[in-house]
Amino acid sequence: MTDDRTDVQEFFTARAADWDRRFPDDGPAYAAAVAELGLREGDRVLDAGCGTGRALPSLRAAVGASGVILGVDLTAAMLEAAVDAGRDRDGWLLRADVAALPLRSRSLDAVFAAGLIAHLSRPGENLRELARVVRPGGTLALFHPIGRAALAARQGRQITPEDLRAEPNLRPLLAGAGWRMTSYADEDNRFLALAVRED
Ligand SMILES: C[S@@+](CC[C@H](N)C(=O)[O-])C[C@H]1O[C@@H](n2cnc3c(N)ncnc32)[C@H](O)[C@@H]1O
Repeated sequence: MTDDRTDVQEFFTARAADWDRRFPDDGPAYAAAVAELGLREGDRVLDAGCGTGRALPSLRAAVGASGVILGVDLTAAMLEAAVDAGRDRDGWLLRADVAALPLRSRSLDAVFAAGLIAHLSRPGENLRELARVVRPGGTLALFHPIGRAALAARQGRQITPEDLRAEPNLRPLLAGAGWRMTSYADEDNRFLALAVRED
């Protein structure tokens, strides 16, 4: 395990038990973002970096009982909090790194990733791995329940031009990983970039 992944695990292990209590009003924002992913009944979806599984109820509602939902996270404590919250009723939960997913190529219809990309030490490679497991034409949502400026203010930092979620950086990053960005929104109350898996 690299130091980067150990740092991520330590950071989120310390926050896991309180994660949902810190952000109690985010549910509608997750539901709205999932609605934009264009899921259909029976679809197979990965929640990448699912944390405590806050997106799982909306994902389940979108794909119905015949759909398949897998939540993957690196941090065991976040997955334990997901189980404590009953989110395992809405999907399978698996401890894994998005750098190397134990999934067949082209086996999924979509990936939802909330709050993940900023924590990846190799975002290009990891987005490529997400593309590997999605069928051509499948979709990706990179979401955060507040926009970049609001998040930076909350964290007491400035946004720099190098921020990989800035549109001029994110579009080529996605393209190099097999995704074509189809929409981009960076507003006070949400960040949402949608992309389609290229053939
Ligand atoms: C900001 S939290 C967001 C959690 C959840 N998606 C949400 O919206 O509440 C980021 C999550 O990504 C996970 N994570 C970070 N790097 C990861 C990786 N390489 N593979 C899998 N999960 C990762 C962390 O453990 C953490 O739970």
